Amino acid sequence: MRKGILTIAAVGLLATGGLTACGDDDSGGQASSAKTPKIGVILPDSKSSVRWETADRKFLKEAFEAAGVQYDIQNAQNDKTAFQTIADQMITGGVTVLMIVNLDSGTGKAVLDKAKSQGVATIDYDRLTLGGSAQYYVSFDNETVGKLQGEGLAKCLTAQGAKNPVVSYLNGSPTDNNATLFKNGYDSVLKPKFDAKEYVKGPEDAVPAWDNAQATTIFEQQLTKANGKIDGVLAANDGLGNAAISVLKKNKLNGKVPVTGQDASTEGLQNILAGDQCMTVYKAVREEANAASDLAIALAKGEKKDTGQTVKDPEGGRDVPSVLLTPKAIYKENVKDVIADGYVTKEEVCAGTYAKLCADAGIS
Ligand code: BGC
Repeated sequence: MRKGILTIAAVGLLATGGLTACGDDDSGGQASSAKTPKIGVILPDSKSSVRWETADRKFLKEAFEAAGVQYDIQNAQNDKTAFQTIADQMITGGVTVLMIVNLDSGTGKAVLDKAKSQGVATIDYDRLTLGGSAQYYVSFDNETVGKLQGEGLAKCLTAQGAKNPVVSYLNGSPTDNNATLFKNGYDSVLKPKFDAKEYVKGPEDAVPAWDNAQATTIFEQQLTKANGKIDGVLAANDGLGNAAISVLKKNKLNGKVPVTGQDASTEGLQNILAGDQCMTVYKAVREEANAASDLAIALAKGEKKDTGQTVKDPEGGRDVPSVLLTPKAIYKENVKDVIADGYVTKEEVCAGTYAKLCADAGIS
């Protein structure tokens, strides 16, 4: 039986800077090398997807507070130099575990290697750092995410009765390994259809840093290049999907051209309810945060956990112990599941003009 680690009497439950104090004496005879856990998290930005600030920060905070560990969550705001500075400050500040969502593998690797050299344990959170040295990788099955997107687009194109549809791609950031995995997933569904001449491959572009504003310009150019004939858009996340939808709206094509997404953002769910977006992929970030938090706490205590699974780093050749969670496809019919799971609230999704659309979709 484990001794409860939450000492309610801890002075100042919420100290400034978001740190939670926790009494931790070693009378239980635990490993003498055990350090007081202090977990640093570096999120990538707040614009490539709303998830980082609205979901990941919230659920990680909840997980750390429930476990009574100290933590420091910061956001690099898509600035690689800031990313490294934050990491340095965290290491100097005495974190025992550093969890990162890299902005690219090169800078991610530099941070992980430095942490390692200072005796700080590391976790790749959501994005695998290629050639990196993290002890664990916690994410979703990202090829399945892409597969769900490909299948979703095919389903919506069939529902529209599309004949030999032209499909364009808005891929994620070329420096994000996840973007590669998503594409592998949707290619596995769509490429056979292109090869069989059932679908026609339209323009394809990767969107640097998942930048939503650039995605709008890129999709405008795609539409021009295709002489206005794009019948379906495989957009790798809701932000990119919304960029495409905004251009389709200007051309009075929204609702006629299915667009995919990912992240089950409020905006993405609203676009689905409005009929402008075909589907999104819901990833239960609460589970991802909990899994990462459990591993971080084990690492801080010098414990080893068997995740039962590894992922091969194609660059470094390592088998990285991993937790890969299962994503879920969301269409108009099951938008309600995302709300029921507490990922977004009905108040947000069903605000204003969306109230009626929510009622129509059985969201009560
Ligand atoms: C994440 C997605 C997110 C994207 C942009 C990916 O690595 O897995 O959930 O939409 O980055 O931030």
